[in-house]
Amino acid sequence: MSIKVNIRRQENADKEPYWQSFEYSGERHVSVATMIDAINGDIAASAKGGERPIEWECSCEQGLCGACAMVVNDRPGLSCQMFCDELVQEQPEIRIQALSKFPVVCDLVVDRSEMFEAMKEMKLWLEAPAKVRPVNLPLQYEVSQCLMCGSCLEACANYSLGEAFTGMPTAMSALNLTLMSENKAYKKQYTKRVYEGCSKSLACQEVCPMDIPIVEAVSKMNRISVWSMWNLFGKRKQPVGMTGVNIE
Ligand code: FES
Repeated sequence: MSIKVNIRRQENADKEPYWQSFEYSGERHVSVATMIDAINGDIAASAKGGERPIEWECSCEQGLCGACAMVVNDRPGLSCQMFCDELVQEQPEIRIQALSKFPVVCDLVVDRSEMFEAMKEMKLWLEAPAKVRPVNLPLQYEVSQCLMCGSCLEACANYSLGEAFTGMPTAMSALNLTLMSENKAYKKQYTKRVYEGCSKSLACQEVCPMDIPIVEAVSKMNRISVWSMWNLFGKRKQPVGMTGVNIE
């Protein structure tokens, strides 16, 4: 039995999006990425002619590059790590669309440059040799696995293109740099561009394809960059709205 696959398509940024349905009748225990490839094979082989292949991005097909992030059955994630047989257990059809928080370039390809520009604006790079502190290495390893795929920003209620809040990709980098440097600029940037805009919905942790412990990372960064200042002023209570986040 075939699977009905609905894909939101858009020829380019200036054209209107539309939904197109396909029937996929190949192997079920394959990733969504592999299924899109197979559908493109059918399009190329079909007698219709002139039909555009589905545009999408990938580099590794191993969950390592983040390029293939898209929204599948309303959940953002890596299409090379989501499997068709598991998806059809939840609902009979598969719905695929581009990440909505970034401008669409074509079909499932989006322009994620704002995420990279934010890294530049916040100067998230080392300017002096790193200071390795073994106690911090396990968390540094976890946060350094961020693929910058944009899945967390898709799920985040606070992130919108062009706003000051830059979300978890920059937060993970700011924490990593803070833990291996004396430079206080990372903490200031984090406070301004992340802390002040985050409402702690923690949807980011729910969808992160790398299972990065975002709650632990954000909690640590808040303690280092913001709550330490509160303590300096003798305000030792947790700030309003911070409930649920471990500050130990
Ligand atoms: S293609 Fe690289 S993570 Fe999916």
